[in-house]
Amino acid sequence: ALPRDLDGRRVVISAGGTREPLDPVRYLGNRSSGRQGYALARVAAHRGAEVTLVAGHTAELVTPAGVRLIRTGTAEEMRSVMLAEADGADAVVMAAAVADFKVAEQAGHKIKKSDAEPDPVRLAKNPDILAELVESRAAGELSASLIAGFAAETGDPSSSPLEYGRAKLARKGCELLVVNAVGDGRAFEVEDNAGWLLGDDGTEATIPHGSKSLLASTLWDAVKRRLG
Ligand code: C5P
Repeated sequence: ALPRDLDGRRVVISAGGTREPLDPVRYLGNRSSGRQGYALARVAAHRGAEVTLVAGHTAELVTPAGVRLIRTGTAEEMRSVMLAEADGADAVVMAAAVADFKVAEQAGHKIKKSDAEPDPVRLAKNPDILAELVESRAAGELSASLIAGFAAETGDPSSSPLEYGRAKLARKGCELLVVNAVGDGRAFEVEDNAGWLLGDDGTEATIPHGSKSLLASTLWDAVKRRLG
């Protein structure tokens, strides 16, 4: 049995992928299953936390018992729900795969096919929700004791996923960052995860290859330590 060591803590977790409409029936999406975010929610609830799960599109997953689920569609929707829900939370974890871009001009009607070449799709930037949570807190617009994010990194010949992770932690300004090495069938649409847990206090821990629940436990252990 897990200890109820998150009793009295309120945590907010995002999960799954956002969807950006092209027209009323089509969207740009991604392959996120939501499994890691749901595992975080399940483990936190088991450990006694009051959990709000903000989910974009996910695989068919069971909502963990006792968890308050809020469904969102686009990144903009997830952003406004996260900014509202994060206020006063002990911990906020952005595990969602947020689309970096949206479609600049959505068609109000279903785009028709014709013999002519189709128009190119113009994209526009989406907000970076994680960075915005940190900025809003710094501006005193919301209070959240601890903010954590995820980074899926492939690395390249000049830099390892870990080095990219360190830079991302500094750029986003959050307290904790889980860095997953991706590629070769790792992390997306699979049951297991591995990587590193980086803290803005300079702490670095390896997360051994294991289930998403195990990774969730590792993260909540670190959150608990940091909350004191
Ligand atoms: O910059 P990158 O997408 O790699 O950062 C990943 C982290 O940032 C994840 O925690 C993700 O949930 C969050 N993110 C976000 N808003 C975006 C893009 C990413 O909150 N538009």
